[in-house]
Amino acid sequence: MSALFLSLEGIDGAGKSSHLDAIEALLRKQGRVVTRTREPGGTPLAEQLRGMILNQPMDPLTESLLVFAARRDHIVQVIAPALARGEVVLSDRFTDATFAYQGGGRGFDVQVLATLEQWAQERPEAGGLLQPDITLWFDLPPEVAAARLADARTPDKFEAQSADFFRRVAAGYAKRAEADPARFVRIDANRTREQVWEQVEQALQARGLSA
Ligand code: TYD
Repeated sequence: MSALFLSLEGIDGAGKSSHLDAIEALLRKQGRVVTRTREPGGTPLAEQLRGMILNQPMDPLTESLLVFAARRDHIVQVIAPALARGEVVLSDRFTDATFAYQGGGRGFDVQVLATLEQWAQERPEAGGLLQPDITLWFDLPPEVAAARLADARTPDKFEAQSADFFRRVAAGYAKRAEADPARFVRIDANRTREQVWEQVEQALQARGLSA
């Protein structure tokens, strides 16, 4: 079976994480070997960087460089080898989050991000950039996401940001989705958990990934 790279995206509180177990189970039922991972993180080094990125104040360029440093290690150590073995890589976030959070939320220069993306994700053997094959984008109005997060645990550096920040993050995701409609599947996350799952299943089914 051919390798597949699947990422999940959305603003904090959009509910993507609560569907990861079910997606993994569905793929395993299809007989696929699944490497489940997350960003920032996914390797010992990248998880250390995650701790810094999520908890320490820093300027947007520093933040972007650390995010891409973590991503590069993640690609080299985990993602590329798993894809070479023909597995499914299921990642909770990938580069779209950088364009949404650092680009949209922080207002950092997306041209610089695009350059870092080229450096970190270049795949000479495939003649292009490493990108997910499918990105499930959990789209939820920032006000609804904020209300959901209000009941959750202690917020990290990003979760503690303003409503305006999350509006810019959401706009950042919308822009990335518009630029690559073949890869993005928009999931309307402003529904019940069951209705959201139905959309996820349909999206996977449409790609031949579910019975
Ligand atoms: P998240 O994926 O929401 O994990 P958890 O469910 O444990 O909170 O947390 C990751 C945070 O990092 C999230 O707020 C988005 C942010 N982030 C960036 O700012 N840039 C990036 O490139 C990535 C991958 C994440």
